[in-house]
Amino acid sequence: MGYENEMKIEFDSRSCNEGFIRVAVSAFMTQLNPTLEEVADVKTAVSEAVTNCIVHAYDGKVEKITVSCHIEGNALCLSVKDTGCGIPDIEKAMEPLFTTRPEMERSGMGFAFMEAFMDEVHVESTPGHGTTVSMRKEIGWNKPLH
Ligand SMILES: Nc1ncnc2c1ncn2[C@@H]1O[C@H](COP(=O)(O)OP(=O)(O)O)[C@@H](O)[C@H]1O
Ligand SMILES: [Mg+2]
Repeated sequence: MGYENEMKIEFDSRSCNEGFIRVAVSAFMTQLNPTLEEVADVKTAVSEAVTNCIVHAYDGKVEKITVSCHIEGNALCLSVKDTGCGIPDIEKAMEPLFTTRPEMERSGMGFAFMEAFMDEVHVESTPGHGTTVSMRKEIGWNKPLH
């Protein structure tokens, strides 16, 4: 409400939708005139957050994932929401290399990548109810002026 521009997409938690949502978010952020590197950073963060919903939150069951984006000045604000199992210890889950699915060859680096590629990452989760990962990235602030 009251944002300069916003969008929200709800889709099935199928891995075939990962490419779709990455491209949708990239297309939305073009209004900020991003560099290719900034687009790649955001795509990686979206992929990691959405994969976590598919693999961890829903454990392969098909449910809904909601991705919302809005623009705040020069920043892209992004949230990825599921209504899955939730995270009992968020601080622990966000530690690099921590994974609850080592048998699936998860690297435990998803949150670390989100934190590396975005300026801010905030996780809210209620066990049994779901998780929302909110991220923010300032776009273009360090570009040389011509
Ligand atoms: N949306 C989510 N719902 C439930 N648990 C999650 C979610 N996202 C992350 N997690 C938990 O946090 C851990 C770390 O996530 P991440 O850093 O992406 O590593 P990985 O996915 O490789 O395990 C996961 O192993 C899982 O236990
Ligand atoms: Mg992950």
